[in-house]
Amino acid sequence: MDDLFAQELEALRARSLDRHLREITTAQGPQIEIGGRRLINFSSNDYLGLANDPRLREAATAAIDEFGVGAGASRLITGNLSPHLRLERALAKWKGTEAALCFSSGYAAALGTIPALVDKNDVIVLDKLCHASLIDGAKLSGAVLRVFPHNHLAKLERHLEWARDKHPDKRVLIITESVFSMDGDRAPLRELVELKERFGALLMLDEAHATGVIGPNGRGLAAVENLTEEVDVQMGTLSKALGTSGGYICGSHTLIEWLINRARSFIYSTAPPAAVVAAAIAAVDFLESPEGEERRLLLWERINLMRELILKLGVGRSALDVRRLKLEARRSTSDPKGQSAIFPLIVGDETAALNLAAALQSEGFLVPAIRYPTVAKGAARLRITVTAAHKEDQIGAVCQTIERHLL
Ligand SMILES: Cc1ncc(COP(=O)(O)O)c(C=O)c1O
Repeated sequence: MDDLFAQELEALRARSLDRHLREITTAQGPQIEIGGRRLINFSSNDYLGLANDPRLREAATAAIDEFGVGAGASRLITGNLSPHLRLERALAKWKGTEAALCFSSGYAAALGTIPALVDKNDVIVLDKLCHASLIDGAKLSGAVLRVFPHNHLAKLERHLEWARDKHPDKRVLIITESVFSMDGDRAPLRELVELKERFGALLMLDEAHATGVIGPNGRGLAAVENLTEEVDVQMGTLSKALGTSGGYICGSHTLIEWLINRARSFIYSTAPPAAVVAAAIAAVDFLESPEGEERRLLLWERINLMRELILKLGVGRSALDVRRLKLEARRSTSDPKGQSAIFPLIVGDETAALNLAAALQSEGFLVPAIRYPTVAKGAARLRITVTAAHKEDQIGAVCQTIERHLL
């Protein structure tokens, strides 16, 4: 058996597509340590710097004192602890929905929810750049799967016409993200809602990278567009701006009750540990507080600074990658809807992306290369993320270093 996989690994290495774990020896933060070296971290999703926040740590420790470490069983057996219910009430109130349900990860939320909503008799129409968890959930459901080019409303409309023509009585589920994880741009939510209503479809929106970042108190894109009621299934994760771990679905009471009965990743998995859940409650409380809103606005100052500096990169250069980067940044400036804490620096070639990441690491910056299959072949990139915990001079320094290496 080893021979077989050794050959496959060799083939991955030959195409610069092999992956390796790096050991991080400190807590999350704008600086982390690898191999005894401090690196400035521009690749974390801990957008508000909450992953090592004293309030969250205290909440976790208090929950361990009260509930111990493990939940002991699934939620439907004996694992349904008070913190789970408190978190779900807090999430529903914060997101403005009737109810919420927590899963042990965002991945598990997608994998459990999508097959509970549709089956092989139904149709899913999915944005091409959707996260792997949404793709895997869609495949697992067995529904007929149609993919539309990224944010391409006309193509989506054609798929919906086709679905209504060929499967008139079936459920049609549109799946997309509010902020795309590897490109940092946003979905045209208002137009998507208009289409879903016209074709009588359901809409599932993954707010993973919008939560905590976009909208008042970080409620996400549906809230900022005032479309909370129109989005049937709001998915999110506690593991990015909320600094902890776990996924959630927000929606109607009926939806949540259905998921409790049908979402297999919820039913057949041990409940998340109380410590993590209590830390997530502290994170939601923080986001709802004036201090939380201040932190989110600080994040936007940092995002705006990064955008400004990135716009200056590549001036007078002809490389396609740099032009693309400038375009990304320009679109962000002219269209405030195109903004997030994610800045993709598209390099293209996988080996070149690895080399650029290695060069940055040798100068003290951690920005790992993102390659196929996370992004399309030949679209390798550095995915730069900004957090509220970054200092202005750290943002300036990484941009200068990138500029030097792109010369
Ligand atoms: C868009 C998107 N959805 C879902 C997930 C999965 O969330 P989690 O990391 O909590 O499993 C991620 C994270 O990797 C993501 O980027």
